Amino acid sequence: MNVLLIGSGGREHALAIALGASPLLTRLFAAPGNPGIGEVAQNVALDAANHSAVIAFCKAHEIDLVVIGPEAPLVAGLVDDLTAAGVPAFGPSKIAAQLEGSKGYTKDLCREFSIPTADYERFSDAEGAKAYARQRGAPIVVKADGLAAGKGVVVAESMDEAEAAIDMIFGGAFGQAGAEVVIEDFLEGEETSFFALCDGECAIPFASAQDHKRVGEGDVGPNTGGMGAYSPAPIMSDAMSARVMAEIVAPTMAGMKARGAPYRGVLFVGLMIGASGPKLIEFNARFGDPETQVMLPRLDCDLLPLLLASATGKLPQAPVALKPQSALTIVYAANGYPDSPQRGTEIHGLDNARAQADVTITHAGTKLQGDKLIANGGRVLNVTALGEDVADARRKAYAALEMIDWPGGFYRRDIGWRALAR
Ligand code: AMP
Ligand code: GLY
Repeated sequence: MNVLLIGSGGREHALAIALGASPLLTRLFAAPGNPGIGEVAQNVALDAANHSAVIAFCKAHEIDLVVIGPEAPLVAGLVDDLTAAGVPAFGPSKIAAQLEGSKGYTKDLCREFSIPTADYERFSDAEGAKAYARQRGAPIVVKADGLAAGKGVVVAESMDEAEAAIDMIFGGAFGQAGAEVVIEDFLEGEETSFFALCDGECAIPFASAQDHKRVGEGDVGPNTGGMGAYSPAPIMSDAMSARVMAEIVAPTMAGMKARGAPYRGVLFVGLMIGASGPKLIEFNARFGDPETQVMLPRLDCDLLPLLLASATGKLPQAPVALKPQSALTIVYAANGYPDSPQRGTEIHGLDNARAQADVTITHAGTKLQGDKLIANGGRVLNVTALGEDVADARRKAYAALEMIDWPGGFYRRDIGWRALAR
């Protein structure tokens, strides 16, 4: 099979490695890819926003499956256009991607299909939103409805903070994504992520992970795309996974089908596990980054037929086979991330680091300048290790990371602390 992978981050590098290991694979292309992905795939300069160019490429190179990493092409309807052109694509349609693209859409689905989540209301004016927030009381959570690069959520500790967030969003901080606001109750508990593969009718469990969203050690400071992660999430016992499948994923599949928008692809379920069980915080319509970097090394089966079945057929009705080991990844970010990451610094020592047993290094934001490897983004590298448990994976990952010579970058030294504390 020939596969085209869309994206250029660490998540896509992990996907490229897993797809590259498939005996079913003939050729793997990545658009646009990155220098790491280029070692296992052929990078092509193709703009994912230009759907007719993507379709023409697929026809010319006899692509059997397009695997889409990030959310933007999904929300823009790339899967719909590829499907209409007869090219199988892994990921949800434009309408189904509203599970990530619109918080209000998802909350209404939860209400209609009794999916456990925080109580909420939707607003298109500041006065109504403020009155509701005052009625519910702090702490309260204020969310821009649309995609806001992970910055559209404010967990407000006080009413002043809630009102400021409402004014900020309606003031246009996120453009159209902030035309509507969702106000919801604050949920207590432990946050975790769960992933299910879906074929429009059914879903099967994939894996669980926990990430560290804040930039600073001890989980403080600004939110980021994620500074590290591990899989499995210790809190996700088999019993808890079964509850999430039954109480959240299954009714979502049924609800989307009933709405005429059957969900295909991977469903990324952001959860709060509290005293009364799992509650949905949010859905994403794609694999997580860096969660994918820790889930895929644990895979004990071929990824390619699973993604193909999700896109075009029926998934096997058995959970995905996983190794019993744990994986942990550390994000090596450019100094200044997330506010103003410094680009252009040189990275040395990768070959030593990646020669370590059970270690994988994925590129998230690099470029080649001649034969020099240069930082070219916020999150630049991911150092991932597989171990007997989180502590073993963590020891191997930090040992490998310390072999990298990159004064232009920083990383958190406490990835996995919550799992270790258990
Ligand atoms: P989201 O983009 O919806 O995942 O929200 C970003 C982050 O805000 C989440 O990862 C949580 O840490 C936090 N958050 C969102 N909604 C809630 C909620 N209802 N209660 C508590 N924390 C929340
Ligand atoms: N790491 C969180 C995400 O991929 O959205």
